[in-house]
Amino acid sequence: MAEHYRIAVIKGDGIGPEIIDSAVRVLHKTAGIYGFEVATDEYPAGGMAIDEYSTPLPGFTLEGAKGSDAVLLGAVGGPKWDGCDPSLRPEAALLSLRKELGLYANLRPAVMFDELSCASPVKNAASMDIMIVRELTGGIYFGENDSYMCPGILSDGTPMEEVAYDTESYSRGEIKRILKIAFELAAQRRKHLTLVDKANVLRTSRMWREIASEMSHGYRDVQLDYLYVDNCSMQLISRPSSFDTIVTSNMFGDILSDEAGQITGSVGMLPSASLGRPGTPGMYEPIHGSAPDIAGTGKANPLASILSVAMMLRLQFGENMAADAIENSVRKTLGQGYRTPDICYGSDNIKTVNNIGMTDAVISNLYKTERLN
Ligand code: IPM
Ligand code: MG
Repeated sequence: MAEHYRIAVIKGDGIGPEIIDSAVRVLHKTAGIYGFEVATDEYPAGGMAIDEYSTPLPGFTLEGAKGSDAVLLGAVGGPKWDGCDPSLRPEAALLSLRKELGLYANLRPAVMFDELSCASPVKNAASMDIMIVRELTGGIYFGENDSYMCPGILSDGTPMEEVAYDTESYSRGEIKRILKIAFELAAQRRKHLTLVDKANVLRTSRMWREIASEMSHGYRDVQLDYLYVDNCSMQLISRPSSFDTIVTSNMFGDILSDEAGQITGSVGMLPSASLGRPGTPGMYEPIHGSAPDIAGTGKANPLASILSVAMMLRLQFGENMAADAIENSVRKTLGQGYRTPDICYGSDNIKTVNNIGMTDAVISNLYKTERLN
């Protein structure tokens, strides 16, 4: 009997619906070719859910995600909801999904496609292939925060002032489990793991280092080194191709993955996987945001969400051939000169297409890949 996968689809806001429509088309075509079945159930979250249900994450969306085999998510947020109370902002949906599904490991591969090396804003990025492993359910994103009135006298004579705080805290267990994922990935890759932190200032970072150093004895073939985050942001620009696997905290991972993404030519190319305990549903999403300025124009690049489907097939379902086919098809499509406006670089034979044109090309190359096999 054919394998059957049930996917919770959350399109979200801005360009989310367009790129997820592309990803779902590719998913269905791939399933047809490789002989597995997929059922997709759509759920609201983010700003559109605030508008319709007065909450960014309706209970039935969370239940649907928990009951699925995997979640495919577009993007949430937009200026329309900027004034909302923080707990009711669209982003709260994303953070709750991550926390409630226990998705502590965020894998963000930043890979340079040969065809796009001329689109990179930096030199020396031609062979860049970095796996960023970002801790996703701890740190300052989920630490205690508040604001309060503090007695004091300001220079203008004001007697009180408001103070706000966010706290970064990590338990040993949280650090160990993400480092384990990172060491194992590095061992399967080029055996070089860089822990990025701010150990010259932060107590939490020093604990990350202590634990990484202890664990490194169990992974003797992996070379472990450490880099301060400010230095790392510089080194990513000057020597992007020399990094292999990077592991870091929630906030540093957020920042560095956007930087690494842009070095590959466009943040519109980067997929991601957020994983929890084995056997539980992971969440797969492009790392770019909802890009409300181009929503509905057809300019959105669907490749990050299409590549997120490939990550889902590989990491969640072990459908490695189907995942390879999608990645090969994307490479082939770029090689044929198809470009959305964000990656419209290259020498001859460039065909500027919209989101649908790019998706059609990827799908037709999927069949070609199949015929070649
Ligand atoms: C990301 C995004 C989110 C994050 C936002 C939308 C809350 O920037 O997935 O990188 O900060 O994690
Ligand atoms: Mg981000």
